[in-house]
Amino acid sequence: MMTNLPKIKIAPSILSADFARLGEQVKEVTDSGADLIHVDIMDGHFVDGLTWGPKTIEDIKKWTHLPIEAHMMVDNPDKQINAFVNAGTDIMTIHYEACSSLANTIASVKSRGIKMSLAINPDTNFSNIEEYLHLLDQVLVMTVHPGLPGQKFLDTSPKKISSVRKSIEEKCLNTELEVDGGINAETISIAAQAGASVLVAGSAIYDHPAGINNAMKSLREKLDSS
Ligand code: DX5
Ligand code: ZN
Repeated sequence: MMTNLPKIKIAPSILSADFARLGEQVKEVTDSGADLIHVDIMDGHFVDGLTWGPKTIEDIKKWTHLPIEAHMMVDNPDKQINAFVNAGTDIMTIHYEACSSLANTIASVKSRGIKMSLAINPDTNFSNIEEYLHLLDQVLVMTVHPGLPGQKFLDTSPKKISSVRKSIEEKCLNTELEVDGGINAETISIAAQAGASVLVAGSAIYDHPAGINNAMKSLREKLDSS
């Protein structure tokens, strides 16, 4: 087990929630001990799926006191920054693969006073973004190919998570290391032991047969015992 890790957070992804009852379902994970709410924004171009816009962020904020993360699976993310910040986004996660001028994108997000998080897809090497690490509040390592909930945690993920963790420690940074995709009661410990500090889980929470509260409890127990 690694030492000196920050407190590990659970970030429910509402992609697997009932979209017709989003507010209630955000409240339910909030009351069950979530640390932040992960909102998957998909534009039908960067990924095939389509989800929400900034108004969804504004509306779900009425149902939770927790920070809201917008995971921007969109092309041309720079165009969206102002609208999502104005809607109340606290953490903006932008994909490296969607950026044409990464330094400018990072500066734009940070100039709005919110947290800047950079995501990398499974096929993107961490070495592509390592030089920007000191500018980031969070790195998101995708542990599935983005676009759909309910996929299997890729076997190559622990090694990649560990290499990001190692770089954060070597540089004495306190960058959050988030992991997204295929997190469930089995894989959550693997990701945490590899060095993740924020675990996103969608289907493992919202599709759990015993309900949201029990799902959250079982993920937290796994984390506490890992
Ligand atoms: C996938 C999204 C994830 C997704 C995770 O592209 O970014 O946040 O909701 O879903 P699960 O936890 O079911 O893999
Ligand atoms: Zn996501």
